[in-house]
Amino acid sequence: MAKILVTGAAGFIGSHTTDFLLAEGQTVVGVDNLRTGHRENLTAALRSPRFALHPLDVAAPGALAALVAAERPDAIIHLAALVSVQESIANPALNFSLNLQATHLVAEAARASGVGRVVFASSAAIYGDGVAQPVREAAEKRPVSPYGAAKLASEDLLLGHGACYGFTVRCQRYFNVYGPRQDPASPYSGVISIFARRYREGKPVAIYGDGRQTRDFVAVRDVARANALAATRPGLISGAVNICTGRATSLRELAEIFSTHNPGVAAPTYAPARPGDILHSLGDPASAGAELGFKATTAVAKGLAELISETAVPLLS
Ligand SMILES: NC(=O)c1ccc[n+]([C@@H]2O[C@H](COP(=O)([O-])OP(=O)(O)OC[C@H]3O[C@@H](n4cnc5c(N)ncnc54)[C@H](O)[C@@H]3O)[C@@H](O)[C@H]2O)c1
Repeated sequence: MAKILVTGAAGFIGSHTTDFLLAEGQTVVGVDNLRTGHRENLTAALRSPRFALHPLDVAAPGALAALVAAERPDAIIHLAALVSVQESIANPALNFSLNLQATHLVAEAARASGVGRVVFASSAAIYGDGVAQPVREAAEKRPVSPYGAAKLASEDLLLGHGACYGFTVRCQRYFNVYGPRQDPASPYSGVISIFARRYREGKPVAIYGDGRQTRDFVAVRDVARANALAATRPGLISGAVNICTGRATSLRELAEIFSTHNPGVAAPTYAPARPGDILHSLGDPASAGAELGFKATTAVAKGLAELISETAVPLLS
């Protein structure tokens, strides 16, 4: 069994990744400064003797390197980040610090302590708009936000470090991740968590545009499994893959699924399309299958049904 250090462990993807690794029998060293994460996401993990949470800032020089030197993990899964495209546009300096400088500190910590593998949370945002669908990894990268640019630069920075200093780097280009613990209170949250909260509150959702825009929604538990594979599967070489399903779901279809589970809620309202919103985003999952042995297995209808039942507010009698 391996020891894996997970940055951003208290976040949405980080806490599910931690739970998955612990269920596999791995030891997990969690790191999070709770900027957007929540300790409650780790309620189950904190009961495990194979888990500890270290409240440190990955972007603070020296902090992570000292922990990595003390813990000597087999792999680092680097998920901690400024996760919002909009926030990166409003505050590009903070984006640089939390998304690129922090990645450099992760790469340096790995090099200094001889960590064998680094898994990086990249994003479909590195591709930008107007890419042929489904998007393949070799597509031209034209990020259109500081966030997307920092993710792309982080991939290169890590891959260069890995090639030079002899560790494996796996870049995971997540598409639209959804599931329990995604923070609906955040104005930047994914459409599914916002829809889930509106329907739970009995309120109709607003759809911008005609609702025919599509996304590749991948369930967070599938993403957690992909992260565990990237960190622990023997014999992997460095590379970057899409973490997606290869299936497109429109916002109309999403609303229909939610309506089926919440028949009393009024039909969606439609508002003018928002400038800058892309119409379609669909990934090609073939490389993740070939390189990691990963295939997303949760269909959106099933993933949403689980999300709705897990987040249902119990009725008081
Ligand atoms: N959710 C998605 O659909 C999606 C899509 C593409 C990429 N990603 C990437 O996946 C990763 C995880 O995203 P998420 O959706 O779980 O978001 P999240 O906000 O739930 O998780 C990020 C975690 O990192 C922590 N963190 C942030 N800055 C930190 C720092 N300087 N030091 C220590 N901890 C810090 C936060 O407190 C939080 O717990 C991010 O790198 C994000 O860019 C997410």
